[in-house]
Amino acid sequence: MGRIQLEKVSKSFGDVEVIPPLDLEIEDGEFVVFVGPSGCGKSTLLRLIAGLEDVTSGAIKIDGQDATDTPPAKRRLAMVFQSYALYPHMSVRKNIAFPLKMAGMDQAEQDRRIDGAAKVLNLTDYIDRRPGQLSGGQRQRVAIGRAIVREPAAFLFDEPLSNLDAALRVGMRLEISELHERLKTTMIYVTHDQVEAMTMADKIVVLRAGNIEQVGSPLELYRNPRNLFVSGFIGSPKMNHISGDEAAKHGATTIGIRPEHIDVSATEGLWKGRVGVSEHLGSDTFFYVHDTGLADDMTVRVSGEFELHAGDDVYLTPRSEMLHKFDADGLRMS
Ligand SMILES: Nc1ncnc2c1ncn2[C@@H]1O[C@H](COP(=O)(O)OP(=O)(O)O)[C@@H](O)[C@H]1O
Ligand SMILES: [Mg+2]
Repeated sequence: MGRIQLEKVSKSFGDVEVIPPLDLEIEDGEFVVFVGPSGCGKSTLLRLIAGLEDVTSGAIKIDGQDATDTPPAKRRLAMVFQSYALYPHMSVRKNIAFPLKMAGMDQAEQDRRIDGAAKVLNLTDYIDRRPGQLSGGQRQRVAIGRAIVREPAAFLFDEPLSNLDAALRVGMRLEISELHERLKTTMIYVTHDQVEAMTMADKIVVLRAGNIEQVGSPLELYRNPRNLFVSGFIGSPKMNHISGDEAAKHGATTIGIRPEHIDVSATEGLWKGRVGVSEHLGSDTFFYVHDTGLADDMTVRVSGEFELHAGDDVYLTPRSEMLHKFDADGLRMS
């Protein structure tokens, strides 16, 4: 079991309130991602759940039991950090065994759990190596293995892939998702990377300055961002925001249109502009369009290849059913 409830939980460091009181429910077995810009309080929130920081006010419940004052070791939660925090002089087996040894578990049960975790994480062939003889990805798997053997109620990950190169990050992202599929244990995963959030989460919690801006599935957030901040944070490249007369035509203070929801033509369309930089990825082409009179720069994403050159005239037509409307407070209108 791994149901976690935060009730009016807040955190201040001295006079500075980093997390204003917030409520959050995490269901048993869910993969929840906390995402937001650097410094928004993601790690602090995770550390409050882990018990590594004390709440300033409010309550934390784990499986219905009040755990607000429960010490970290008794919360049955396992944390995996960005720095793997492995013991360099110990073998993989000993590193993974460490928390079990500390808990005084009998050897047969230790071995059963370690062999199981090593198998799940493809570490069986490396079990006698030391961390220095492993790649970054393998070291991260050892850190995860050390969490798995504790059979926790929930896993807490704090930016676990930030130290890995891009290709490895994609691979590990998939491995962690597969691990969740297999174990079906609650996972809370902190990242500043909205792509990780979108690809891994059942439920995303978007944070800004310690406030929860929105909670929802990846596609709910993509389709119906409840405010300007979420609309700009979720989705890559970013949603275009347009204010002024063009927005007023739609009865809004700001309208938003995602780069992939704009049709492009060299000859006709609603908005005329001039092509700036274009990025050809093969699978997609991104154009940055100047001088539309709408926003500083409009970003357009076209599937596949599309030939336009810097300085060319270009016409953009937003798909009207894909327009997002926001009021003067930046809140979604419908
Ligand atoms: N121990 C601490 N003492 C004082 N301020 C802290 C402490 N830990 C974090 N903070 C502050 O709390 C805010 C949120 O930090 P953090 O939770 O680490 O953000 P994130 O993980 O989203 O980047 C930051 O402004 C940070 O400086
Ligand atoms: Mg952090």
